[in-house]
Amino acid sequence: EAEHPELKTPASPSVRVGGQPLTAFKQVRHEIPMLSLDNVFSGEELQAFEQRMRDRLKREVSFTFCCEPKLDGLAVSLLYVDGQLVQAATRGDGTTGEEITENVRTIKAIPLSLRGEGWPARLEVRGEVVMYKKDFAALNEKQEALGLKTFANPRNAAAGTLRQLDISITASRPLRFLAYSLGEAQWQPAPACTLQSEAMARLREYGFLTPPDGKLCESVQAVEDYAQWVREHRPQFRMEIDGAVAKLDNLEAQQALGFTARAPRFAVAFKFPAEQAQTLLKDIEIQ
Ligand code: IVH
Repeated sequence: EAEHPELKTPASPSVRVGGQPLTAFKQVRHEIPMLSLDNVFSGEELQAFEQRMRDRLKREVSFTFCCEPKLDGLAVSLLYVDGQLVQAATRGDGTTGEEITENVRTIKAIPLSLRGEGWPARLEVRGEVVMYKKDFAALNEKQEALGLKTFANPRNAAAGTLRQLDISITASRPLRFLAYSLGEAQWQPAPACTLQSEAMARLREYGFLTPPDGKLCESVQAVEDYAQWVREHRPQFRMEIDGAVAKLDNLEAQQALGFTARAPRFAVAFKFPAEQAQTLLKDIEIQ
């Protein structure tokens, strides 16, 4: 690249590590708001969620749900124009987030150029930035050895790593990105996806990781069984999981249902209670 600057592209591996620290994050407005998810805690609440969708749609659609573990990290939006990563942003308040393009470029699991072919001219990919449990343990060990601040959990470590004005710090710590939905997508000339599960398969073709152990469930009971399965296998996941997410697979029905001010009407999070453990209080120091 030094000898042939004309060959250097924005997707060059050398661009993964930034130069000068930033002085502040720029604000980015999300074209489509990045909302939260409504939570359910029982099979009855799940049933009520399906009934609300049936009432609102007023027509028969197949209620197949695309289910995934709910990853405990940070929501990030990535914008690709003509297959090149041009912008990355945090969720922020859902309407306006912070631009973290240079930080995100250092995450090796994020393609700087989309793989394959047929991707939309503009494609917004949404997903979660996480730190794997083993990487978190290693990072804390390293921090401790250096006499630096340790992190309370992988989510905090991921957040602290991503929102770094000094990008070399982001680059030095292992973050992953797992894609779970599309925002904006201009499909021409490729045919648009009609199912959430199809969109996820395309994202994998373009070079993204998607949440592990996703499953299509054909009934509310199957969703509940899946959530139970995820809960039982929670310790075996490489990243922290705090529930299971069920999204209606039919994208047209998703669009018809739309959003409330807070969350989509076509998806819910089946939340698990926080993990509990016993500990021994050894001492209290009054200050
Ligand atoms: S789908 C329109 N799938 O949970 C919202 N979200 O509590 C679509 N999350 O903001 C979100 N794992 O950051 C979806 N497999 C998953 C997820 C997931 C984690 C996060 C996401 C969202 C938050 C809501």
